[in-house]
Amino acid sequence: MKKILVTGGLGYIGSHTVVELIKAGYEPVVIDNLSESDYEVKGRIEQIVGREIIFEQVEMCEKAELQACFARYPELLGIIHFAAFLLVDESVNQPLKYYRNNLLSTINLLVCMIEYKVHPVVFSSSCTVYGNPEKLPVDESAPIQPAVSPYGNTKQIGEDILRDAAKANEIKVISLRYFNPIGAHESALIGEFQDGPPHHLVPYITETARGLRQELRVFGKDWNTHDGTCIRDYIHVVDVAKAHISAVERLLQNATQEKFEVFNLGMGVGVSVLDMIKAFEEATGIAIPYSFAPRRAGDVEAVYADTAKANEILGWQTEKSLADAMRDAWRWEQALDEEKS
Ligand code: WQD
Repeated sequence: MKKILVTGGLGYIGSHTVVELIKAGYEPVVIDNLSESDYEVKGRIEQIVGREIIFEQVEMCEKAELQACFARYPELLGIIHFAAFLLVDESVNQPLKYYRNNLLSTINLLVCMIEYKVHPVVFSSSCTVYGNPEKLPVDESAPIQPAVSPYGNTKQIGEDILRDAAKANEIKVISLRYFNPIGAHESALIGEFQDGPPHHLVPYITETARGLRQELRVFGKDWNTHDGTCIRDYIHVVDVAKAHISAVERLLQNATQEKFEVFNLGMGVGVSVLDMIKAFEEATGIAIPYSFAPRRAGDVEAVYADTAKANEILGWQTEKSLADAMRDAWRWEQALDEEKS
């Protein structure tokens, strides 16, 4: 079987990608240190795909653990590297936790890739590398702005490490810059999960709809946008997952033109916070109470993707709408509610 190592494969984007890899005929070898994910996700993925998956609990910051994993799977064809801490505000308060985990795991991975001659890697990057872009929609040639958070900086530095390692070795990299992944698998067995009050907009909306939160606080109404609220590019997580299959195939077919390629993954549409509230209400028929709050530190005013490069070169198109994402997010929230009750 075509084995692909998936680091952080029990996380939000990782778990959805594991499902798509299996549907595309690959055999994922999932590793995760379970620090930000739950072992239970393994069984849920297996329920979706109808068979067992390979999972190993591995701490990537311990090089020997990672080397032992590579030694157990000598036939790996490539890697998708999701494993990272990803909370912007947490990274501001605990920068060393983020720099150590996100960068050391990437360096150890590269050392193993060189040692065990597994050269193709897809890297989970983020639109945060663009900061507050001058030009919208933002394309891959846009200047990388100084990161506004240690989290965003680990994505920028991570790309630099991969780019330089690719220059000096046989390694080939496709870096996928996600905009704002939202929604969940239609089965409502996997989705975005966070302990405590959600950091991200859509889980906060669905928890408000569920009555777990009294109201949504909209961070700022005086931005220079059509309705004064921040604009983002929200993309269904299943569409993001499918782009990883296209990237793996491009690498395995040796179709890459450069040793380090970058692609934006977004819908290519800017949507404001108030638009998102409206989209959820229209998709579910549930009103979302909200009030305006001060701007949140680190927020950029507006960012959305120019997706032409991924469309034309990866041959990837989004298939799901914002309404699909809202319905799937709500179904996931309702499933969480049933589990809790
Ligand atoms: C979206 C908008 C908030 C919550 C982050 C990471 C990014 C990527 C996606 C990993 C903003 C507003 C939010 C709330 C609000 N993650 N908001 N009230 O910050 O755009 O991106 O997640 O790759 O790297 O930075 O996403 O969902 O936190 O916020 O008004 O209770 O919703 O101000 O404008 P963000 P978000």
